[in-house]
Amino acid sequence: MDRRTFFVLLGVPGAGKGTQAKMLEEHLGLPQVSTGDLFRYNLKNSTSLGQLAKSYMDKGELVPDEVTIQMVEDRLGMDDAARGAILDGFPRNLMQAEAFDEMTAPFGGVSLVPLITLSDEEAMRRITGRRVCRSCGAVYHIEFNPPSREGICDRDAGELYQRDDDSEETVRNRLYVYYKQTSPLIGYYYAKKLLAELDGGLSIEQVQGRLMELLAEKEIA
Ligand code: AP5
Ligand code: MG
Repeated sequence: MDRRTFFVLLGVPGAGKGTQAKMLEEHLGLPQVSTGDLFRYNLKNSTSLGQLAKSYMDKGELVPDEVTIQMVEDRLGMDDAARGAILDGFPRNLMQAEAFDEMTAPFGGVSLVPLITLSDEEAMRRITGRRVCRSCGAVYHIEFNPPSREGICDRDAGELYQRDDDSEETVRNRLYVYYKQTSPLIGYYYAKKLLAELDGGLSIEQVQGRLMELLAEKEIA
């Protein structure tokens, strides 16, 4: 069998999925596949998919499954995903999880599902202080992980901006949507013995350290 490695990072908005996915990407040489980033990329390039996604993202609602699943399938067909990928923000409901199982079945299925836990209050603090690089997508926090020069990315000197859906009101709805639609995946992956819980309230480096230990235990890294 052509075995591949697929990590699914689960957690509330702001838990640190993107931050940890970027670190794993560098460490493991597997691409980060973030559905949120892919939608934002489409929006930046004014595609019809981007326009459609924006109408949902602005409200903190999920983009329809057919569109999202097809987008992930296309992304995983690209050359850099030949050994697998780190999924960040997908799957996000049971329909997507079942579709992802089908997609990955020929390659041995999902390898591991790290669940990064965090309180809603802390998630809100993290999201409202977040800044993102317009060109490379690197993630910062004005207090917890500031760039060396304010408003400028350390990696590629790109401009840092605040996401449109990071207003307090939209974050509240994103949290609601998470508990209603995404949190059932915790039971789904627990039953498959793929779930591993991590305390997302620790520092970025500590969470990364725990993630690395986990991969070593599973003999993945
Ligand atoms: P998406 O882009 O996936 O957003 P999200 O799930 O709401 O998650 P976030 O990106 O807000 O948080 P994160 O966990 O990545 O945290 P981060 O690392 O940035 O989705 C956006 C929208 O797109 C959705 O609402 C939906 O409309 C649509 N969408 C996406 N996927 C979809 C799907 N599958 N189906 C349908 N629709 C979909 O960290 C947050 C902040 O905290 C940063 O500032 C960071 O620097 C800081 N930080 C991180 N870790 C720590 C730490 N340990 N200590 C201190 N600070 C930290
Ligand atoms: Mg993210």
